[in-house]
Amino acid sequence: MKKAVITGASGGLGRVIASKLIQEGIMVVNLSRTSSNLPVTNIKTDLTNNKDITNAIKIINKNHRDADVLILCSGVMHWHNIGETPIKEVDGDFMVNVTGLIKLTDGIAPLIKKNKGDIVIIGSTSSFICYPRSSVYNSTKHAILGYIKSLQQEYKDEDVRIIGFHPGGFKSRFHIKAGSKLKQRELMDPDYLADLIIYALKLPRNMQVSEIIISRK
Ligand SMILES: NC(=O)c1ccc[n+]([C@@H]2O[C@H](COP(=O)([O-])OP(=O)(O)OC[C@H]3O[C@@H](n4cnc5c(N)ncnc54)[C@H](OP(=O)(O)O)[C@@H]3O)[C@@H](O)[C@H]2O)c1
Repeated sequence: MKKAVITGASGGLGRVIASKLIQEGIMVVNLSRTSSNLPVTNIKTDLTNNKDITNAIKIINKNHRDADVLILCSGVMHWHNIGETPIKEVDGDFMVNVTGLIKLTDGIAPLIKKNKGDIVIIGSTSSFICYPRSSVYNSTKHAILGYIKSLQQEYKDEDVRIIGFHPGGFKSRFHIKAGSKLKQRELMDPDYLADLIIYALKLPRNMQVSEIIISRK
């Protein structure tokens, strides 16, 4: 591993992964709306904005040609009962969790493939199970599972690994921002999740962890 491009290294799990990679001497490029306070290169990217996405793809393919890891960690959730979902949140949540992620990955995946690297997509246990009050979020994460499987199919004979990482609830500002009532102390520690992802990345290249599902006990 030389250089990791991470969406959402400004906070939450993305920031924890970035911090651990930096400690191991790996350069990190963060794509998010706000800058990361870690020693990374920030490219201001709002995944709901096509211009930002195009710009980020251009900069990475020009200035970060040595990038060999892409981690898609940005995500949003809002809690609403069916019948009460604001229309703009349906579009916005799909843009961040699905369409923005796909557009960005499509523009960077060929570089990661050329560098014989790895793509990690953070899904959720909501990629498999539907929880109440989060119909839009469940739908975005089910959609992204389809994209992960598509990448795995298309790249199955190439020297690039695609890891789908699907955690259950972990500590971050995510649930607070979503207005959920889950108590932080009941959630998983993102430190262990980041370690697990980095462990999978370090496995010999003839081993691919295709899917990790890890939930609260
Ligand atoms: N926390 C959980 O319990 C949980 C459980 C399962 C799966 N997940 C998934 O894990 C991933 C990370 O979640 P987290 O808990 O670490 O979340 P978090 O603490 O809320 O951090 C979310 C990250 O996404 C970025 N982001 C949000 N909107 C964005 C936008 N429009 N464009 C670009 N980046 C954007 C944020 O950066 P800026 O605000 O700077 O843009 C931030 O860095 C997400 O994909 C989430 O769905 C979380």
